[in-house]
Amino acid sequence: MTTILAIAGSLRAKSFNLMLLHAAAELAPAGTTVESASIKDIPLYDGDSEATQGLPAAVVALKDRIAKADGVVLVTPEYNNSIPGVFKNAIDWTSRPAADIARVYGGKPIGVIGATPGPAGTGLAQVAWLPILRTLGTLPFFGPRVMVSNAGKVFDEQGKLADPTVRAQVEKYMTAFAQFVMRQAR
Ligand code: FNR
Repeated sequence: MTTILAIAGSLRAKSFNLMLLHAAAELAPAGTTVESASIKDIPLYDGDSEATQGLPAAVVALKDRIAKADGVVLVTPEYNNSIPGVFKNAIDWTSRPAADIARVYGGKPIGVIGATPGPAGTGLAQVAWLPILRTLGTLPFFGPRVMVSNAGKVFDEQGKLADPTVRAQVEKYMTAFAQFVMRQAR
């Protein structure tokens, strides 16, 4: 069984990116488990608090889940044509202490997908993640893309991904990403 940890980069209960995460889990291929992680309990990074109190429990837990997963998918919103601060903050915490980066992220297959009510599909936010993925020593996935535009129209009232074209894109992505992850595990 291949385990993929999908991290939602929004705190909103009705987040389109959380809806996309659920669709990715639903449409993942057989033999793949997609677990969901939230960044809700992660405080703002504060070097003084790290020095005196160490890592918050939510950060330790997220780091361990990333380390244990065979692959990770970041489900990112786009703010001002880049990464939302709350999401970057959470990943920054998981990169502490730096000596632990290799255990948590080294060679880890990581994909980035995203959804927006706007027209441009979070493309700029997805690209903005690349320097971070490189800095952390991950193995970024450069297969098919999931750039969900007009999110208000493709998810239904219950938050289910209803648009058949976008469902097919997500299914294709998850199949290709799971294969990529399995190739690294060999
Ligand atoms: C946005 N939004 C946005 N959308 C986009 O496609 N490109 C952008 O540059 C921005 N910029 C932006 C800045 C800020 C500060 C906010 C709050 C929002 C809109 C954004 O995509 C929208 O709020 C989504 O609904 C956020 O994702 P979730 O919370 O639905 O997952």
